[in-house]
Amino acid sequence: MNESIGTIQTAALAQIAAAACERALEDARVAVLGKKGTLTLAGAAIKDVPPAEKAAFGQSLNAARTAITAALTEKQLALREAADRAALAGIDSTLPARALPVGSLHPLTLIRDQAIGILRRMGFALADGPEIEDEFHCFDALNTPADHPARNEKDTFYFESGKLLRTHTSSVQIRTMETQPPPVRIIAPGSAYRRDEIDATHLSAFNQLEGLAVGPDISLPDLKGTLEYFLRELFGTKTEVRFRPHFFPFTEPSFEIDVKLTVKGQAPRWIEVAGCGMVDPAVFDAVNRSRKDNAYDPDKVTGFAFGMGLDRLAMIRWGIKDIRLLIENDTRFLRQFA
Ligand code: DAH
Repeated sequence: MNESIGTIQTAALAQIAAAACERALEDARVAVLGKKGTLTLAGAAIKDVPPAEKAAFGQSLNAARTAITAALTEKQLALREAADRAALAGIDSTLPARALPVGSLHPLTLIRDQAIGILRRMGFALADGPEIEDEFHCFDALNTPADHPARNEKDTFYFESGKLLRTHTSSVQIRTMETQPPPVRIIAPGSAYRRDEIDATHLSAFNQLEGLAVGPDISLPDLKGTLEYFLRELFGTKTEVRFRPHFFPFTEPSFEIDVKLTVKGQAPRWIEVAGCGMVDPAVFDAVNRSRKDNAYDPDKVTGFAFGMGLDRLAMIRWGIKDIRLLIENDTRFLRQFA
């Protein structure tokens, strides 16, 4: 009997060694250890073994099972490792990983945040107002008469209700003064809308940054110093800035501010970036009437205001030739700001 167990073991180990895949190995296991496997059947014959030999028979049976099980486990590991190696063959695991695409901030967001950062350091607080405005806050309180071209239906988006998409962020000046007494020092970035023909320098929805400072002793040098400092912080200390007399209904005197743009290979030229001026007393009068008090007494407070085009600032900062690039979301353009 022991001899036949030895034969079974030898045959099983040979079949295990010869198995070329996990399926063949499983066949080998079933053939020897399965319900009808050779060793299982040999073990069942223990009942016919004479009592004196039973112990020895049992021992050789167990020894055979242990050896065969160990061989099966070892072979299975070897087959799996070989399969892994085959799957990885041809793959160069030392190659650098493929970079995942990473997004970046839009240039308008970048310039807006930089502008806000500079002005906040100078003591300006953020203010806000609605984009759907009424004529009072957008025009009347800003001393803009009914026949002013900005109020023309051809230039402005009106709703049937008589409300309109604000044509500038200057309406936030009025909203702020209505709700807080002087002194005020606020900035209001936001969208503005005009029925302009869209071209390389015009969009019908664009972005402005409004500013207002009102207090007992605010003068034109404060306005000039603030805006010159701001533009040099934004564009560099050597930036040339000029104030050109202009007209706005809500400031007197009023100016447009130009920045000298020097692009490689082009003659330097002046680019308009903002409107500004000293708040017209008529604006304070309108605010007082709306507040029903005299908090903004034109004999006691003065102020300056400014409004700049954020799209324009971005175009100057990065030499962008066409404003439409700012809204087309072409990733080839946007990637450059990453
Ligand atoms: N609101 C003007 C515009 O959209 C810009 C402007 C000019 C704003 C003078 C001001 C200002 O606050 O004082 O063209």
